[in-house]
Amino acid sequence: MTDAPNKPRKGIILAGGTGSRLWPITLGVSKQLLPLYDKPMVYYPLSVLMLAGIREIAIITTPEDQAQFQRLIGDGAQWGLRLTYIAQPSPDGLAQAYLLAEDFLDGAPSAMVLGDNIFFGHGLPEMMASADSQPAGGTVFGYRVADPERYGVVAFDADGAVQAIIEKPAKPPSNYAVTGLYFLDGTAPARARTLTPSARGELEITSLLETYLADGTLRVETMGRGYAWLDTGTHESLLDAGNFVRTLQARQGLQVGCPEEISFTKGWISRAELDAQIARLGKSSYGKYLAAQFG
Ligand code: TTP
Repeated sequence: MTDAPNKPRKGIILAGGTGSRLWPITLGVSKQLLPLYDKPMVYYPLSVLMLAGIREIAIITTPEDQAQFQRLIGDGAQWGLRLTYIAQPSPDGLAQAYLLAEDFLDGAPSAMVLGDNIFFGHGLPEMMASADSQPAGGTVFGYRVADPERYGVVAFDADGAVQAIIEKPAKPPSNYAVTGLYFLDGTAPARARTLTPSARGELEITSLLETYLADGTLRVETMGRGYAWLDTGTHESLLDAGNFVRTLQARQGLQVGCPEEISFTKGWISRAELDAQIARLGKSSYGKYLAAQFG
């Protein structure tokens, strides 16, 4: 399979799903629109893609939730982005995103982030820049967790190279879980088309990654202990992640996951465009932060 190396990398936020572990909350609203402390959850993964320098992004949601995402974020122009919305008719797995986004990607390499994954750490933009610079193949990020059996787990060989990724293993070969951030080349949709649904009826991201592994083109970068990788899929982890953000922001006086700040800092929006956002958000502590930071 050939790649289109000259096309800039595009982003995908996978923000559909059932959210059944958060019922009854998510019976009425998408998990990725729930508050994570002071902003909607989807702001965090969106900010990660922005920090990777990506401005053309598809947001995949359930058909029912799409209008609410559009109401919140619109076409992205306020943050210097170009957003496309794609509906996933039913939650048939993470790898299905590449089929749904095939036309949007149009042969470009991609960075996909799960809409309920929170990343924080010094050097994250540099780590992603390195992944972005790979001309072909895929890069995923391994993170040490106490309970690897809940995740796709990386098996390393004696030289520290990735040997296998095993989905929810009873006996984990390492403590390194594969996080929900995937940098794949332009062949990902064609590879996704070769997959068949797993026993649980989903197109598994692990199966897609295995195709790269079989070709010897999958890199696993480990995120060190100075990073935080949090997921928000249960009532407890949602509250923990919110408290984490609150603690950091209160201590540093800096926002985590603030699209206006990233966009203005990168020069993607003008001073006047930032001022318009500040005026609109002014009454909240979020808006007051922007006013104080850039006023
Ligand atoms: P999960 O947490 O695996 O699933 P879920 O969000 O439906 O929640 P639950 O297990 O409680 O029912 O999903 C991880 C992320 O991927 C989450 O942000 C939702 C998203 N997702 C999709 O958008 N489409 C899918 O088909 C699946 C499986 C997940």
